Amino acid sequence: MKKAAIIIPTYNEEGNIKQLIERVFEVTSHVPNWVVEVVIVDSNSPDGTGKIVESLIQKYPHLHLLKTEKEGLGKAYMKGFKIAMEKLQPYLLFEMDADLSHDPKLIPDFLEKIERGADFVIGSRYIKGGSIPENWGLYRKVLSVLGNLTIRFGFMKLSITDWTSGYRAIKVWIVKDAFTHTEKYTGYVFQVALLDRAIAKHAKIAEIPLQFIDRKSGISKINSIQYIGQTLLYVFTNSSFVKYVIVGLLGFAIDFGFAYAFINAVKIAKTPANMLSAEIAIVCNFFINNFWSFRHKKIEGGLLTYVGKFFLFNFVSLGAVIIQGVGMFASLKLFGDIKLNLWGMVTLQSWILYKVLIIAFLIIPYSYVMYNKVVWKNK
Ligand code: GDD
Ligand code: MN
Repeated sequence: MKKAAIIIPTYNEEGNIKQLIERVFEVTSHVPNWVVEVVIVDSNSPDGTGKIVESLIQKYPHLHLLKTEKEGLGKAYMKGFKIAMEKLQPYLLFEMDADLSHDPKLIPDFLEKIERGADFVIGSRYIKGGSIPENWGLYRKVLSVLGNLTIRFGFMKLSITDWTSGYRAIKVWIVKDAFTHTEKYTGYVFQVALLDRAIAKHAKIAEIPLQFIDRKSGISKINSIQYIGQTLLYVFTNSSFVKYVIVGLLGFAIDFGFAYAFINAVKIAKTPANMLSAEIAIVCNFFINNFWSFRHKKIEGGLLTYVGKFFLFNFVSLGAVIIQGVGMFASLKLFGDIKLNLWGMVTLQSWILYKVLIIAFLIIPYSYVMYNKVVWKNK
């Protein structure tokens, strides 16, 4: 028998909590191979949610109550996870809302995915069979859909459709491993931070469809403005793709500046000038990427590995230099070394346009793939 602990944070859920607990145990008393414990983390709800839970503990030996201060959803989860791991030693942890938005009858589906090898199972509203409530206002619908798309593209991790879902089953090792990271995220953004961490640790992620039911009793505690701000900030500071793009733009400026200077001030021929400037930008990018964008995959293992990687990087860069050289040479030959007249207002040397196109469509994809697959490949 394996043990799972379902952590349910509550704040003013008097109208929902009793029914939820009853329904959870109705489902879990029938699942084979699993013992299921339920830990309610109540932030001293003034409406007496905690009292209701206390009165049910008599009836349900697998029900537990943890009383905490009101310090945000993420904090409530972390405290619940900690106490469950200490006192109950589960193999699996669940996150679930108390307002009946998350149907307990899905619990066996989560367990099945875990039994089939997943480490982290998400109840997703955005895969086939899942849904958000029809009666949600336009604002909340747009917020949820756009929010998820932003995170998906921000992390360039398109295979996960629901980043913010609060109905999930997570293996204990992931939660343990993530603690030092997630500690900083005490609000709703905690959900994104935990999943991001799980991916960084190569957890096997699976999704099952979730039909999110709108709450019938009580109100949502989400502060959407704060939530949007924290989520955007999280993606911006934690996504290696976003950082890669920023470093890329910086590299572009360096490359461009040097090329311009070499051609117009030093009077070097255009093709070698561009190859030289590209190499300078690439060397700068190596250092910025290693210590910032790909910091989590940072090269370790002493000077020798480091030097080795640097040579490897230069080899990869050589590819980029050759692409720039060949691309520039071919463009000049094919389309001519001319002055372009833009909208009759600005005149532009044609090589500048060629360079922009070569970087955008050849160098950026080439580099991102090579960095991830060759230089900073997963350990
Ligand atoms: N202990 C505790 N402390 N519980 C809290 C707190 C808190 O500060 N804030 C909220 N909760 C509890 C609520 O009582 C509920 O059981 C659960 O956390 C979710 O809170 P809701 O207020 O119902 O949030 P929601 O429905 O807007 O948010 C749901 O969807 C989000 C994504 O759209 C949740 O599933 C979120 O986790 C999810 O990110
Ligand atoms: Mn809710």
